[in-house]
Amino acid sequence: MRSLLLRCLLAPAVLLQLSASVFHAAPPAYETRAEHDPNGIGKFYLGREIAHVMGHQAAGWLERPERESEERTDLLIQAMQLKKGEIVADIGAGSGYFSWRMAKEVAPEGKILGVDIQPEMLDLLQRNMQRRGVSNVVSVLGTTTDPKLPANSVDTILMVDVYHEFDFPYEMAKAMVAALKKGGRIVLVEFRANDPEVRIKKVHTMTEEQAKKEFAIFPDLHWEATLTPLPQQHILIFRKL
Ligand SMILES: C[S@@+](CC[C@H](N)C(=O)[O-])C[C@H]1O[C@@H](n2cnc3c(N)ncnc32)[C@H](O)[C@@H]1O
Repeated sequence: MRSLLLRCLLAPAVLLQLSASVFHAAPPAYETRAEHDPNGIGKFYLGREIAHVMGHQAAGWLERPERESEERTDLLIQAMQLKKGEIVADIGAGSGYFSWRMAKEVAPEGKILGVDIQPEMLDLLQRNMQRRGVSNVVSVLGTTTDPKLPANSVDTILMVDVYHEFDFPYEMAKAMVAALKKGGRIVLVEFRANDPEVRIKKVHTMTEEQAKKEFAIFPDLHWEATLTPLPQQHILIFRKL
């Protein structure tokens, strides 16, 4: 009788646990729509249309001299409060605009892993580092689903104007969470959607709410803060528990 009572009491808890694990195991589905923004690829993730990847032919735009004053990239570096010795992954590093700025902050023991899917971008990044005499930036060729980072190896992951163009945001985010050390953080920087002052094409922007929704899927990651010292972008910090 006692064991029957125990089983009845435990059954709902077991069921709950099972359904929770099934829920976490099933990633949100991607959706393809015929009618979509011409600047997007017609593929949607949790209601958001994914943008086209910026080709390496446009890399000069990333290095434009007026970028610092337009985007206040200096304030972004300040806001990150990097520490000497940190291992930082710059995902979607492009020409390495942020890689070399961060390299100075974490040197001499710290290292930047500049990850990109375009070998041409990584060639450019390497050339830029050599020209600047920076030796603690390592380039990593990733894929659209995998940044190729070892598990539990990275203190900080930075993504500037890149997450919205991931073809597979779920797979990328999952791999990035795995690559973070316990207590490590993701710093997500995106142009603010719905801000009339921000004149950027819609698919190249994100709302804070959407970004939080997309990262809330991962139970060991939690939103810590949203910082707004920049004129056009918001900075979202997510911490691995
Ligand atoms: C708009 S650029 C931004 C570059 C850099 N973060 C900056 O702000 O100067 C976006 C970069 O992300 C890269 N990218 C797109 N999808 C990627 C992925 N799944 N993994 C790594 N890089 C990716 C593109 O190749 C491109 O170089």
